Amino acid sequence: MSSESSLRILHKTSPKIFQEFLLKLEKNTLYNFNPFGKINPSNVSSIVEKELFRKDKIKFFSFCENSLIAYSYLTKFQKKSKKHNCILGIVIGDKWQGEGFGKKICKHMINYAWQKNFEKVWLTVFDNNTSAICLYKSLGFEIEGIFMNDEQYLKKQRHVISMAIFNNKRNYVNKRKKIWQNIE
Ligand SMILES: CC(C)(COP(=O)(O)OP(=O)(O)OC[C@H]1O[C@@H](n2cnc3c(N)ncnc32)[C@H](O)[C@@H]1OP(=O)(O)O)[C@@H](O)C(=O)NCCC(=O)NCCS
Repeated sequence: MSSESSLRILHKTSPKIFQEFLLKLEKNTLYNFNPFGKINPSNVSSIVEKELFRKDKIKFFSFCENSLIAYSYLTKFQKKSKKHNCILGIVIGDKWQGEGFGKKICKHMINYAWQKNFEKVWLTVFDNNTSAICLYKSLGFEIEGIFMNDEQYLKKQRHVISMAIFNNKRNYVNKRKKIWQNIE
């Protein structure tokens, strides 16, 4: 099924549909998308209940031919000085990866963020998640920083890349380099 099939992106779904989607995520996918830690039949309902209740996340449930194929979100910051900024998270169900859906959904979310007057969309991605990094670069995200041994999962520490895209379309690569030179 390609992303040319009809894609409907909604802000709501039922707890049951969301639970079924999360339980089907495979090991490799959960290795790269782990905001909920381990997901299993005994904890999934509490994960879903908490997630659906969160008011700081703008949630996007993407459907293709009546199946929930992706969950993604923009998380708002509490801090007043960071109200122009939000954090993007996304996971595509294993069956639907590599078909162009991730790119389409991210574009939709970025446009949505600009419409809601955010000026920066920020995200983090593990350093060895090359397909996600390629996707974000192709959308115009710049690498902002590299955080060594930042997260621990299954007893292994992993490096985290932070990336961002700006509504003002300015490119900060040179500015960032300059700041590095000044502080090193
Ligand atoms: C990462 C993820 C969101 C990408 O979504 P997707 O639907 O699989 O990706 P798409 O088919 O839209 O591909 C978009 C771009 O990604 C890149 N890409 C995809 N698969 C790739 C691969 N195997 N190698 C290199 N680049 C790849 C390409 O740049 C592609 O753009 P192009 O087709 O115009 O060349 C999805 O695979 C996913 O949910 N993975 C597991 C969880 C995850 O990693 N989430 C992100 C955490 S930060």
